[in-house]
Amino acid sequence: MVEFSLPANSKVTNGKFYSSKEIVKSPKKLIIYRWDPDDNKNPRLDTYEIDQTKCGPMVLDALMKIKNEIDPTLTFRRSCREGVCGSCAMNIDGVNTLACLKSMSDVKKDIKIYPLPHMRVVKDLVPDLSKAYEQLASIKPWLERSKSDEKKFDQKEEKKQSPKDREKLDGKWECVLCFCCTTSCPSYWWNGDEYLGPAVLLQAARWVEDSRDSERKNRLAAINDSLKLYRCHSIMNCTRSCPKGLNPAKEIAGLKKAIVTEL
Ligand code: SF4
Ligand code: SF4
Ligand code: FES
Repeated sequence: MVEFSLPANSKVTNGKFYSSKEIVKSPKKLIIYRWDPDDNKNPRLDTYEIDQTKCGPMVLDALMKIKNEIDPTLTFRRSCREGVCGSCAMNIDGVNTLACLKSMSDVKKDIKIYPLPHMRVVKDLVPDLSKAYEQLASIKPWLERSKSDEKKFDQKEEKKQSPKDREKLDGKWECVLCFCCTTSCPSYWWNGDEYLGPAVLLQAARWVEDSRDSERKNRLAAINDSLKLYRCHSIMNCTRSCPKGLNPAKEIAGLKKAIVTEL
């Protein structure tokens, strides 16, 4: 039987326990992955006890309370706290999701929180998304207009879209680029250098479908690649993990169909 062993410095150890200093009416424990690149130590799991009656209902509220009142060194990304910016993505209770949309009451036991899986960790709950953003830039996520299309219109004229064409963007424009889907995709775990992953492919579909764009065929040709696109094997983990209820697997299937029928 094959045996695998992890490098000693990758083993996650048990960390500190921070009990609440106040009288706790409704206790909740959060067990949080901690790693600091500057202290040369292994990652650890710190446990924080909070009182839910003195905290907002979401996991992000608890993280803010811990940072503000218990341990200011805890590091995570957040901005809008409305599920709009996509920055508070992390693995909560074994599922990639947005901390601001995840209610603490949905987790019956202690809440275990890790960074998004299979990405390099910058610190604590902050993953390195540089490669994912590089891949996003590669599909040109902006409106491209050919010179001939531009000539047809006065430059100052608004580029209108019919309600029917606008509807084709539904299920795509809502994406907040949190990368919960990409980091839950087994194909991306093993081929992330080449495979674009569900978040970026959903964005590719968003621009392919935009009636105001002139580059539909060139966009399809650019992703028609055994590694960039066809590493998707319809495992569907992406769709299951999307906190916005989108279906990247369906969008990827749509791209494959358009390539077969249009190129
Ligand atoms: S459907 Fe494709 S993109 Fe989604 S998890 Fe499966 S392999 Fe990854
Ligand atoms: S498709 Fe969903 S999970 Fe993927 S990046 Fe967009 S919002 Fe996040
Ligand atoms: S803080 Fe913006 S999506 Fe959670």
